[in-house]
Amino acid sequence: MRISENGSDVLVVGGGIIGLVTAWRAAGRGMSVAVADPEPGGGAAQVAAGMLAAVTELHYGEQMLLGLNVASAARYPAFVAELEEASGQETGFRTCGTLAVALDSDDRAHLRELHALQQRSGLESEWLSGRECRRLEPMLAPGVRGGLRADGDHQVDPRRLASALVTACERAGVVFHRARVERLRVTGGRAAGAVLEDGTELSADQVVLAAGSLSGRLAGVPEEVVPPVRPVKGQVLRLAVPPAYAPFLSRTVRAVVRGSHVYLVPRANGELVVGATSEEMGWDTTVTAGGVYELLRDAHELVPGITELPLTETRAGLRPASPDNAPLLGPTALPGLHLATGHHRNGVLLTPVTGDVMAHVLTTGELPAEARPFAPSRFASSGRGPASPDLSPGAPSPAPQEQPA
Ligand code: GLY
Repeated sequence: MRISENGSDVLVVGGGIIGLVTAWRAAGRGMSVAVADPEPGGGAAQVAAGMLAAVTELHYGEQMLLGLNVASAARYPAFVAELEEASGQETGFRTCGTLAVALDSDDRAHLRELHALQQRSGLESEWLSGRECRRLEPMLAPGVRGGLRADGDHQVDPRRLASALVTACERAGVVFHRARVERLRVTGGRAAGAVLEDGTELSADQVVLAAGSLSGRLAGVPEEVVPPVRPVKGQVLRLAVPPAYAPFLSRTVRAVVRGSHVYLVPRANGELVVGATSEEMGWDTTVTAGGVYELLRDAHELVPGITELPLTETRAGLRPASPDNAPLLGPTALPGLHLATGHHRNGVLLTPVTGDVMAHVLTTGELPAEARPFAPSRFASSGRGPASPDLSPGAPSPAPQEQPA
């Protein structure tokens, strides 16, 4: 067994965008930081569409989460400006807005209710007739019956975001251990680091568990602090808009078709991302014919011209879902161990606020007021809940996983 010569103030287990932003922000506060992950930046960001949809992804019963979502959305412009400066890379942040549309009278009634909820929640959105929707987006189907325009729901390219965060971390002095974490180290009743797959022992004063839906599977974590996160599969497609078809769409277009969410996210570089299924399939990340068919069928009902575009990529990832769909942020009952996980559909959106919250916790020991509703202790009495480990052969151990967002 090899012992690392130098420990760090903070060890982040998991190098997805949540782990990376935590590391970058902690390093920015003068802490020495290490990240352990076989492929930093290579997980969630490789699948996610990158919608920053605080308004159009509002759900009943998630008003507590709304405050954090809105706070993070508001930070995005300054966050990407700082990150792009620090990394010398672009993130694909695009202030394009979103149009949520209805295809039939049921959809329209659902959207009207969403509009009322948005208004009660103080969010800005505007009701448009079908004709007004098509005036904004001429590729929409003639049958579109109405829509909600949310000019504040933007997008970022999660692949570029992840790449920029890796570079920003490197430039800030974060040390990367490109290996799988075998288990948490606990000494004297507190988290003290981690053991890598090759036996290397890393020591740290504080450990942040940020391994997405695999956060509940790290060996060595005491049962009572294992986060109750489960994987929710999402299949996502990528298409290319040839220059002759541009601009195919000028903003994100989304709808609920037959009860399933479908969204089309147009990048400035001509990529069109279509997502996403939502499936309780455990650790399965197979792209299925049925998943691809349903996404294309629903997207085609919204924007018939989509069938002309080259299909360039299909992929599936896992959202880390918690019992209340909100993240778990901050200290656990095990001294020295913090969580930054459970972001479910909102990992990309919540990246800026998560970085700020975690840096605050790591430097002061306290959760800032905006994050107190998301303390892991809110699940203290529920035990492992749905995060019960899958002990079947072949079940994955902690490593980055992919997560649409
Ligand atoms: N936020 C979009 C999704 O999770 O599919």
